[in-house]
Amino acid sequence: MLYRFTNYLCAVMANENTLQNIISHCKEYGFIFQSSEIYDGLSAVYDYGQYGAELKKNIRDYWWKSMTQMHENIVGIDAAIFMHPTVWKASGHVDNFSDPMIDNKDSQKRYRVDHLIEGFADTLEADKKDALLAQMDTLLAANDFDGLKLLIETNKMKCSISGTCNWTDVRQFNLMFKTEFGAVADGEDNTVYLRPETAQGIFVNFLNVQKTGRMKIPFGIAQVGKAFRNEIVARQFIFRMREFEQMEMQYFIKPGTQKQWYDYWKETRMKWHLSLGIPASKYRFHDHVKLAHYADAACDIEFDFPIGFKEVEGIHSRTDFDLTQHSKFSGKKMQYFDNDLDEATGKPIGNYIPYVIETSIGLDRTVMMVLSEAYTLEDLSTPEKKDDRVVLKFPAMLAPIKLAVLPLLKKDGLPEIARALMTECKPHFNCFYEEKDAIGKRYRRQDAIGTPFCVTIDHQTKEDQTVTIRYRDSMQQERIPIAQVRALVQSKIMGV
Ligand code: GAP
Repeated sequence: MLYRFTNYLCAVMANENTLQNIISHCKEYGFIFQSSEIYDGLSAVYDYGQYGAELKKNIRDYWWKSMTQMHENIVGIDAAIFMHPTVWKASGHVDNFSDPMIDNKDSQKRYRVDHLIEGFADTLEADKKDALLAQMDTLLAANDFDGLKLLIETNKMKCSISGTCNWTDVRQFNLMFKTEFGAVADGEDNTVYLRPETAQGIFVNFLNVQKTGRMKIPFGIAQVGKAFRNEIVARQFIFRMREFEQMEMQYFIKPGTQKQWYDYWKETRMKWHLSLGIPASKYRFHDHVKLAHYADAACDIEFDFPIGFKEVEGIHSRTDFDLTQHSKFSGKKMQYFDNDLDEATGKPIGNYIPYVIETSIGLDRTVMMVLSEAYTLEDLSTPEKKDDRVVLKFPAMLAPIKLAVLPLLKKDGLPEIARALMTECKPHFNCFYEEKDAIGKRYRRQDAIGTPFCVTIDHQTKEDQTVTIRYRDSMQQERIPIAQVRALVQSKIMGV
């Protein structure tokens, strides 16, 4: 009993500071590296290594498939990052895509006001924290910058660098990156933006897709791609980056039906999250108090990260704001002709500008979510021997490598059998071959990158064509015919 309790304590202690553990693990095992690390890195920009790139691709593919292949009325596009600068004027990003900021006069450090207040709130008891956050939400919703400054000052919130409360006024700061287009690098005419969301690439292609695809409302357009934001407070690993990827879908609907479709997509997206094998207790909805300039309802799906519950996905009822704006600015009618019959008149409904429900999920944040959920430090100590392992318990379909093929020895014809199994399986899923080191060490390395199945080829394989298959999470082993390996792994990676 005491032994078990000690193990439990060790596990709890070891799980403290998990974000730091996950960051170190991601670097050590080739998932995620700081960008330009040999030059001391570039703040809030990250590179995916060999296993991170596979994990990210698997998540992207799963989302893409569930949105497009599984919905007959949703199609996918791939729009360019550069867009005509007027797009961002029309969308409101030039004028409104900004966050309230405050600078500390002594350290010159700039803070996003909500992050400064939230950071301070985290140090308070639960009821005081809730009251402070509620006050902040009200002030943000009212764009009351003087009130926000007063809130910061009366609560004596300090700069983490200077330790003082010597603050500037609260000001807006636009988050879009600008660059110049073409050879001449002067004048406003050449200014283009790195897109801060992928959604606008969908809106400007609404007519193209609707007409060429003969799409009937309701229908959706999905897209995955890079987005860029000059985040002021960019920390917490890949949670808040300056260059990141979004997976967005705009669902075009008849005006007046937005409540029904908003609820539908809230439910559908939550089901998608649960299909990753993550328990419902790790998620919650957060309704927006301060709505973005384009929305009439909005909520976040929040996940319980090691840094607390935070947004991973947004669901927004965007009204007809974007299509109306693009109609105005481009002079093109962004309309849909609905030839369904109106119940009252019995005549075709006719032209209207569709309303839109958007689902927008950060791919990198989803990677961080899946990593946080998978990362497990297990204490395997016995009274005789101290032991532990780090295992990434990914759903099999998301794991970067599905199967490790491990000949027990480098001789006696075992590598040849292992190679034949590799040749059979490689076209169907990602495999990894390794002959070096003791088998236990090899298993642990596969645990650390989340490989769900390891197959060991030994001398018995030569006699009865069976292999030992080892399951990552239970560490259970069983003998199965080598001829069944491929089908077994394939069946497990089809589901979660
Ligand atoms: N088109 C709507 C839109 O862009 P958003 O709430 O600003 O809405 C959607 O962003 C999602 O994009 C967020 O839920 C988050 O997962 C991801 N995201 C936003 N900013 C990010 C950043 N700086 N780094 C990583 N992911 C980010």
